[in-house]
Amino acid sequence: MKLAPRHRAAIAELLGRVSEFTADEVAVALELVDEALARGDASGYRFAIDEAADGALRGYACFGPTPMTEATWDLYWIAVDPRLQRGGHGRALLGEVERAVAAAAGRLLRVETASLDAYDATRAFYERAGYACAARLGDFYARGNDLCIYTKYLDRPAADV
Ligand SMILES: CC(C)(COP(=O)(O)OP(=O)(O)OC[C@H]1O[C@@H](n2cnc3c(N)ncnc32)[C@H](O)[C@@H]1OP(=O)(O)O)[C@@H](O)C(=O)NCCC(=O)NCCS
Repeated sequence: MKLAPRHRAAIAELLGRVSEFTADEVAVALELVDEALARGDASGYRFAIDEAADGALRGYACFGPTPMTEATWDLYWIAVDPRLQRGGHGRALLGEVERAVAAAAGRLLRVETASLDAYDATRAFYERAGYACAARLGDFYARGNDLCIYTKYLDRPAADV
């Protein structure tokens, strides 16, 4: 489902309940929503929205083509309602993102995440989905919190990543 103005408040509310995210991160995530609502695809940000039949937001992902690359895309954000996590919604959202990127002739997806214990589940989620930790920058976010760069080549068999 595409992003619509009514999703903004629901995304803000959901992000506010995700314990992994700081207030600064929530503010940045909402800037991407505002950019996409204002400028559409020209913003560089696309959204996958998982909404229940009653209109409740189950989760969302934000992704887009990486500037100055040839067919590389970034997954900027993915979040599932904490009450619904581990129910397959994240996997479904990521699948929707990958299909959209492949349909746009994208060949590589990059995701950045943190090495903190709080992100163990997130890293397990990406690894289970076929993403490989391609690089790690020590003490990047803060001392003791490395940047982990995960990648998935959509045009290669899983064994070749
Ligand atoms: C990361 C996130 C999007 C995953 O969504 P989800 O709906 O909970 O994940 P799924 O149920 O689709 O899980 C798919 C697979 O990932 C792995 N996984 C997911 N959560 C896990 C956990 N807590 N511990 C270990 N493995 C986990 C499992 O292999 C799982 O498959 P399985 O349940 O059949 O074993 C969600 O946990 C989330 O919103 N986390 C907080 C925000 C965040 O960290 N976002 C990413 C950074 S921007």
